[in-house]
Amino acid sequence: MEMSLARFVLLLGLAAPGPAPAGAAKMKVVEEPNTFGLNNPFLPQTSRLQPKRDPSPVSGPAHLFRLSGKCFGLVESTYKYEFCPFHNVTQHEQTFRWNAYSGILGIWHEWEINNNTFRGMWMRDGDSCQSRSRQSKVELTCGKSNRLSHVSEPSTCVYSLTFETPLVCHPHSLLVYPALPAALQQRWDQVEQDLADELITSQGYEKLLRAIFEDAGYLKTPEQSELAQQEGGTKGLVFETLESCSEAHKALSKEVKKLRSMLTQHGIPYVKPAETSSSENLGSKTPTARTAEHLQGDPGLRENTL
Ligand SMILES: *[C@@H]1O[C@H](CO)[C@@H](O)[C@H](O)[C@H]1NC(C)=O
Ligand SMILES: *[C@@H]1O[C@H](CO)[C@@H](O)[C@H](O)[C@H]1NC(C)=O
Repeated sequence: MEMSLARFVLLLGLAAPGPAPAGAAKMKVVEEPNTFGLNNPFLPQTSRLQPKRDPSPVSGPAHLFRLSGKCFGLVESTYKYEFCPFHNVTQHEQTFRWNAYSGILGIWHEWEINNNTFRGMWMRDGDSCQSRSRQSKVELTCGKSNRLSHVSEPSTCVYSLTFETPLVCHPHSLLVYPALPAALQQRWDQVEQDLADELITSQGYEKLLRAIFEDAGYLKTPEQSELAQQEGGTKGLVFETLESCSEAHKALSKEVKKLRSMLTQHGIPYVKPAETSSSENLGSKTPTARTAEHLQGDPGLRENTL
């Protein structure tokens, strides 16, 4: 109902000839059109939100799982922020310009754990921001109702959100140990015992605890996090084993090499992505082995195309 009204008013706006201030005034009637910019059929495909990957699986204290699939909005000045626990954080410009800005400020990644307590939800791999991706940390605090209460940007493209919920008011509601499956609790018991017996250092203790949290899916391993960063654009690509990952990497490297040599062959200069640090990519300077090979087999091609 709200959605169709928003679309109808938007249609009016689009149909109005020229820059129509009257149309713009009319549109203000609609409050917080909750699909604006997201499922708006009038926006070109490129303006819709394109997540870089799927969210991590739901994890952590089981009593919070019921928040999954819900979304909570906060309108602050000209932006509406939306937090969908275990899914994403998005930002939507509150304007009726046809190309209103909408962006992903993070996709559910992992918990922040501190002093054996769940302190916040990290949403990473959002839309690009200079050479990095936008990310958001959502802190959960006790409140009367589920409510996104605060958004700020403490450093460039890192957002800090506060989510109030009655689900975290009990002092034990965010403890890690009770949330763990029994097998991991036993591992933790053993680690505590080893520390008490001075069989491990406090550094070793921290490491072993981290491994338990990673195995529980609360924290991501550095490799997993890196993968999430690198695999931007290949949504939903998950590797079951190290082997399948290595295979895919090999295949991709081969593909990249092939494409590079094609560019090189045809004397097309190309810009390398900022992350890779291979040597000069201007083909004429460093023809790859493959190019040389090809040139031997087909000496005429280069002359024809250059
Ligand atoms: C964000 O999460 C919500 C809730 O699961 C989902 O409906 C929506 O499509 C997601 N948005 C993006 C841009 O992924
Ligand atoms: C860590 O948690 C324990 C138990 O929840 C609490 O008693 C202690 O004060 C906390 N320490 C810090 C530094 O927050």
